[in-house]
Amino acid sequence: MNEKLVKEYNEKFGNKSAIQALEFFLKEYKGRIALASSLGAEDQVLTHMIVQIDPETKIFTLDTGRLFPETYDLIDRTNHRYKIKMDVYFPEAKHVENMVKEKGVNLFYESIENRKLCCHIRKIEPLRRALEGSDAWITGLRREQSVTRNNDTMVEIDKNNRGLIKINPLINWTENEVWDYIKKYKIPYNKLHDQGFPSIGCLPCTRAIQPGEDLRAGRWWWEQPEHKECGLHEK
Ligand code: ADX
Ligand code: SF4
Repeated sequence: MNEKLVKEYNEKFGNKSAIQALEFFLKEYKGRIALASSLGAEDQVLTHMIVQIDPETKIFTLDTGRLFPETYDLIDRTNHRYKIKMDVYFPEAKHVENMVKEKGVNLFYESIENRKLCCHIRKIEPLRRALEGSDAWITGLRREQSVTRNNDTMVEIDKNNRGLIKINPLINWTENEVWDYIKKYKIPYNKLHDQGFPSIGCLPCTRAIQPGEDLRAGRWWWEQPEHKECGLHEK
């Protein structure tokens, strides 16, 4: 059912602007659509657009408990600037406690399996809860971000989340377009972006990149590029 719909949506909106797509989807799925924001540059652009179109839209972030202080600061600054209250989802305390007891607080450095377990408990489970009651969700994915995203389209079916419609309005945007937009509208952004962090996740799993390095080279830098998905966007 959704497959046919997604094909139609891509034909209709694949080459339209992010604003045009958002205007349609926020109306079509009103009350049943949410933006997942990591407070990254792309998500800040989307928050800005969404608040202009429909400020009642749910905007949520997944607080893994291991975020950078600068990211917490940006949650506050964003709420303040746009007069909104983002929903903040936490992992299940018991699951984190069991994992840490069994495998240690910094388990993610030891194996990909451990890293995926931590991402699962701290991000994927809370995402499921965040999406309860929604039929569609919006993300800040861009095609040029990584090898794992090269074939992504504006609209997809999220097989990992009840077959929900997943909308990536900035899928065709370049990094320069994101930053031109942020500067043009003086959108609040994470201060770490000025310190060599183009992509920001959890503190222990993100570091600054060197000039010329891949945009996501600082994420789980000890792993190979094809493994670098936390599961939020696994196919
Ligand atoms: S990740 O899967 O590797 O962490 P990335 O940081 O590139 O993803 O972000 C891609 C998109 O996933 C973001 O634009 C946002 O829509 C969503 N996302 C990532 N992390 C979070 C988070 N902590 N809370 C909410 N959404 C997130
Ligand atoms: Fe855990 Fe690192 Fe994944 Fe954050 S990015 S949930 S700290 S493994």
